[in-house]
Amino acid sequence: MSVHLNVRKVTTHVLHEMKLKKEKISMLTAYDYSMAKLIDQAGIDVILVGDSASNVMAGYDSTLPITLDEMIYHASSVVRAVKRALVVVDLPFGSYQGNSKLALSSAIRIMKETGAHAIKMEGGAEIKDSVKRVLSAGIPVMGHLGLTPQSIHKFGTYVVRAKNEEEAKKLIEDAYLLEETGCFAIVLEKIPAKLAERVAKEVLIPIIGIGAGAKVDGQVLVIHDLLGITQEFSPRFLRRYHNLSSEIRGAVENYISDVKSVSFPNEKESY
Ligand code: KIV
Repeated sequence: MSVHLNVRKVTTHVLHEMKLKKEKISMLTAYDYSMAKLIDQAGIDVILVGDSASNVMAGYDSTLPITLDEMIYHASSVVRAVKRALVVVDLPFGSYQGNSKLALSSAIRIMKETGAHAIKMEGGAEIKDSVKRVLSAGIPVMGHLGLTPQSIHKFGTYVVRAKNEEEAKKLIEDAYLLEETGCFAIVLEKIPAKLAERVAKEVLIPIIGIGAGAKVDGQVLVIHDLLGITQEFSPRFLRRYHNLSSEIRGAVENYISDVKSVSFPNEKESY
């Protein structure tokens, strides 16, 4: 079922209302015009132009290499397709950490050059100044705590985060800090469901989970994982809604065979 596109656009205010009404928020990644158009037509609430583009679009083994210019290219393609969803763009690694002026200029480039509605940054207390400065320019900021892939070399693995008391305490403090600073929502990635539930209950802004259990305010997945385009990545939290990799391979195999046997194009497909 596709939604009627005359409906109200999703804004940060709408997300806040959804939390109050206990209506779950749906969020997916997109990196290009065609996919973003389909996802928006299907009625998704939030589209994240994630720096996971570094993995699924560019083939790197982490999110670190993608550049601000590349994120701007992906984000402007997505924005051209979207009529209803809120579009959030990841600030890439190296464009905001440890330098709040750089953070502001990166965020301004994203907003000006793509037409997106908000940006996302990974981290808590350590990026507080950057979050504050970006917010001071009227740019909505989504936080991201728990497994923060841009810090993969600090942690060394992609295992579940905040399992011990010390890390859980810091995560809760960081969630409060992001809320007080003015973030409009927070992504919690790969943390125990009980901890995510507690954060979603205690803070007033929407909490969007990925590998954080069901008792949060919404869920996000990478579209290539949901559709089964990626094959090697199979974490426990991932539900695949399709097996597009084998469908795409099958279609391409049929095309190759039709070209080789000259059954494509036929007369009707010729001028
Ligand atoms: O980059 C991304 O796709 C993300 C989501 C996994 C939340 O940050």
